[in-house]
Amino acid sequence: MSQMKIRKAVFPAAGMGTRFLPATKATPKEMLCLVDKPLIQYGVEEAVAAGCTEIIIVTGRGKTTMEDHFDRSPELEASLAAKNKTALLEIARSVSKLAKITYTRQPEALGLGHAVLMAKELVGNEPFCVLLPDDIVDATTPCMKQMVEAFNETQSSILGSEVVAGDAIQNYGCLDCTPDPKNPRLLAVKNMVEKPKPSEAPSQNAIIGRYILTPRIFELLEKLTPGAGGELQLTDGIKALLQFEKVYGFSYEGKRHDAGDKQGFLRATVELALKHEKLGPDFRAWLKTFPL
Ligand code: UTP
Repeated sequence: MSQMKIRKAVFPAAGMGTRFLPATKATPKEMLCLVDKPLIQYGVEEAVAAGCTEIIIVTGRGKTTMEDHFDRSPELEASLAAKNKTALLEIARSVSKLAKITYTRQPEALGLGHAVLMAKELVGNEPFCVLLPDDIVDATTPCMKQMVEAFNETQSSILGSEVVAGDAIQNYGCLDCTPDPKNPRLLAVKNMVEKPKPSEAPSQNAIIGRYILTPRIFELLEKLTPGAGGELQLTDGIKALLQFEKVYGFSYEGKRHDAGDKQGFLRATVELALKHEKLGPDFRAWLKTFPL
């Protein structure tokens, strides 16, 4: 069988972002700015670094600023060009040149599984990746690139995973899995459960917002019934996929920030600002003046 290649990345971005109210009342969570760019741009850059050339963003009402962000901005560009601000002009242009971006709508926020299903026609019959834009992964090799490399070996669905401490597992999809003897970063999945009670969690291996899925997932998502929280859960669709195909967890190398949560967002801001090539040194010096 010929090797399947990953070319397309789906970004579910139609949620209501209630954890970040009031900031997200009229502004999409995915457009919240982390240091100097919106959350969704970090994800799109990661997908492009992983070799994706087609980006599919699942949007909803009130989310059109995302489309403007990735589009050309002729007035801004003309104004910067007239003032000879070439570095800024390059920044403005580069965002619109990142990849081919297509948008589709989720009419109602019925859950992550339903959001991914909205991309069915645009993805077609090929494996694809899913990135949740509020999970920011800071890694030497971009997280999705690591996962695409693993997919090239396994040709199976792969779920980004990390070990979380204690009761935190109740906030995630949880894997019942065993490490692959040949590649310890790969975890062979036996079962999975969305947001388990800590006492019932089969492991501390949580699913994070990075997935590579085979196209069979769509027929299973179509059959979903509401799961945890009354939502159509992607985890339930992947659990159904397990009956037909192998599914792996993948312990990625890197550090994840849940930037969809206020505390996680603050931590990500400080860590990424400290690492920022231009802003970092001054920010570090300023931070040191704080009597903490
Ligand atoms: P989250 O659960 O983090 O997003 O979903 P949310 O529902 O917007 O946030 P809270 O919990 O109310 O604060 C992860 C990603 O999935 C998308 C969200 O936009 C987010 O990027 N999502 C979620 C959808 O596109 N549709 C949905 O029905 C649910």
